[in-house]
Amino acid sequence: MSAENNIESVLNENRSFAPPATFSEAANISSEEQYQQLWQHAKDDPAGFWGEMAENLTWFQRPESIMDGEMPNTKWFTGGKINVSYNCLDRHLETDRRNKAALIWEGEPGDTRVLRYQDLHREVCRFANVLKDMGVETGDRVTLYMPMIPELTIAMLACARIGAIHSIIFGGFSAEAVADRNNDAQARVVVTADGGWRRGKEIPLKAAVDASLDKSPTVEKVVVVRRTGGDVDMVPDRDFWWHDLMDGASADCDAVQLDSEHPLFILYTSGSTGKPKGVLHTSAGYLLGTTMTSKWVFDLKEEDTYWCTADIGWITGHSYICYGPLSNGASVVMYEGAPNWPDEGRFWEIVEKYQVSIFYTAPTAIRAFIKWGNQWPEKYDLSSLRLLGTVGEPINPEAWMWYHEVIGQQRCPIVDTWWQTETGGIMISPLPGVTPTKPGSCAKPLPGVVPDIVSEAGVSLDVNQGGLLVMKQPWPHMLRTLYGDHDRFIETYFSTIEDCYFAGDGARRDEDGYIWVMGRVDDVINVSGHRLSTMEVESSLVAHEKVAEAAVVGFPHEIKGEGICCFVTLKDDDGTDDLKAELTRHVRQQIGALATPDQIRFGASLPKTRSGKIMRRLLRDIAAGRESTQDTTTLEDFSVLAKLREDED
Ligand code: WTA
Repeated sequence: MSAENNIESVLNENRSFAPPATFSEAANISSEEQYQQLWQHAKDDPAGFWGEMAENLTWFQRPESIMDGEMPNTKWFTGGKINVSYNCLDRHLETDRRNKAALIWEGEPGDTRVLRYQDLHREVCRFANVLKDMGVETGDRVTLYMPMIPELTIAMLACARIGAIHSIIFGGFSAEAVADRNNDAQARVVVTADGGWRRGKEIPLKAAVDASLDKSPTVEKVVVVRRTGGDVDMVPDRDFWWHDLMDGASADCDAVQLDSEHPLFILYTSGSTGKPKGVLHTSAGYLLGTTMTSKWVFDLKEEDTYWCTADIGWITGHSYICYGPLSNGASVVMYEGAPNWPDEGRFWEIVEKYQVSIFYTAPTAIRAFIKWGNQWPEKYDLSSLRLLGTVGEPINPEAWMWYHEVIGQQRCPIVDTWWQTETGGIMISPLPGVTPTKPGSCAKPLPGVVPDIVSEAGVSLDVNQGGLLVMKQPWPHMLRTLYGDHDRFIETYFSTIEDCYFAGDGARRDEDGYIWVMGRVDDVINVSGHRLSTMEVESSLVAHEKVAEAAVVGFPHEIKGEGICCFVTLKDDDGTDDLKAELTRHVRQQIGALATPDQIRFGASLPKTRSGKIMRRLLRDIAAGRESTQDTTTLEDFSVLAKLREDED
C-alpha cells in the first residue's frame, strides 16, 4: 500500500491528564522508568520476562521451558503442571483471603448473595464432582448457557478444576446459535437455567436449550439452575436440577494437575463471514496474562471492590470478572440485569451500595449514561471510585470527558483498554499510576506486547500515519487455534502481514508513542481517494451537544467514490432538517470539508450486536439502499432496522 493509501487521521485531540500523585505513589507500577524497564526486558528477553512473571502463579510442577517455537504456533511453559481453578481459589484459602468476599452478587430483582473464597471453593468442588458423576472427563466440552448468576462462575471454575473445556454462550443467543456452537464443540453437557432477569422480564433459557437439542446430537445431559421459577419441561434421564445434584455432592475434589497448554475454554466470536470462530485459550498462558494485566491495569489491591459490568458470555467477563481478578484474590461485584432497571440509576446505586473502587465498562454504556442524563449519577455517592476503565470500541473523546468529569469526578484515572477475544487479555492500555491519559487513546503497549502499525505491504509507518495494527512478538495469553480449524486460524490472523498477528484494526501512533485505534479496517471509507476512519467522524458528531450516538458508514457515490452517511441518535428527539444542516456544518468545521456528511439520518437507536457493537455492515446496506445479506443473528433489536429503513427519504 502506498503512503497515500494509508488511513488518514483527522481526529485532533490535545488534552492530556496526568495520574494524580497519590495514585501513582501507591500503584503496582508506579513510574515511567519502571514501566520502560519491564517493557524493554519483555521485548528483549520474552522467555526471561515471562518466566519471572510465572512466579506469580502456583504450579504443581514448574515448567522446563518458557516458550518454544515461533508465532503462531508458540507453546508456553512446556513441562509445567498447573490448575486454573486452584490458582483462583485454593491458593487463597491458605491466607486471610479465605474469609474475604470473592463474589458479591446482585440479581436484577434486588436479591443478593456474597460468596467468600471458601464458599466459592466449596461450591466449585461440589459442582466439579457433579460433572464427574455425569461422566465428564478431562478434555470434554461443556456448554454454559446461563444468566449472570454465581452458578455461572461456579460452573466455569468447576470445569477448569477437572480439565473440562467450557464454551460459554451468551444468554441472548437463539436456540439456533446454541445448536451451532454445541455441534462445533461437540459438547456433552449443557448447563443452563430456567431463565434470567432482564429489564424486569424473564429471558427463558431452558426453552431455547430444548429447541437446540434436536439439532445437537452430542449433548447427553442438561443441568438446570432454578433462577426465575418459570415453567420448564424436564426430560427424565436427560435434564437434572442443579440443586438436586448439588445436594448429594461432596465438597472434596482435588484440582487435576494439567499440562500448561491444556485447553481452558472455547469462546465463539463472530467472523465477518461464515460460521462463528471458536477461539481456543489454554491454561497457564491465559491465566498468567489475565493475572498480570489485572494487577497492572486495574492496580488491584487487597481492599478493592472491583466491578466489571460486562456479561461473562463475552471475553471481558471471562478474563476480568472471573479468571484475572479471582487469581489475584480480589472482591468481584457481579450484577445480573440491565443498567436501567428499575431506573437509570441502577449502576450508580450499586457503586454506592458496595463501595465499588474500580469500575470497568464499555463506551456504548457510557453513551447511554450520557443520554439518560447527569441526574442519575448525581443522586449517588460515587466517592469510593478510584479507577475507571473502558473496553470494546474506541471511546469518543467527548464520552471520555464525561466519564472523567461526571463519574470519575476528575479524580480517577481512566484506563482505555484495547484487546480482543483472541488476545485473551488487555494488550494496550494506560497504566493508571504512570501514563498521562489522552481522551480517545488506549496509550501504550503493556509489558510483553510488541505492536507495530504497518502498511498493507508490512512496512512500519511513520508517526500519525494510520495503518494496520499488528503484533510482532507472541504473548502467553494469545489464542492457540480456532477450535477444529487450524488452517482458518492461520489464514485469519497470520496471512495478512508476514510474521505478524493481525486481527483487523486500524490505528496510528502519535508523536508521544500513543496508539489511537481507529476501528476495524473494514470501517474505513474512501472519500475522493482519502481513506477516513468512520470512528473519527462519529467522534466529531458525538461532540455536538444534541447528539447521543452516531454511526458513520460509506455508500457508493458517483463522484467521490464513497459518500459519508451518518446515522445519528439524539439526546432529545427533535431531528429537524435544520439540525441536519447544523450537524453537517459542525463536522465540516471540526474535521474539514473532506469529511462533510452526504446524508444524515436520525433514528431512535442504532442496530447493535448483543455485546453492544454497532453493526456497521448492516448500516452500509441501508445507506446503499440494498437488501441486507448480513447475518443478523447477533442483532439485539430488530425493530431498530425497520425504523431506520423507514427513514430513507
Ligand atoms: C475493539 C473485546 C478501540 C477493536 C475485549 C477490537 C477497541 C475489538 C477497544 C475486539 C479499545 C476493543 N479501543 N477499540 N479500547 N477495545 N476494541 O473480541 O476493534 O469483543 O478488535 O474483545 O473491539 O472485540 P472483542
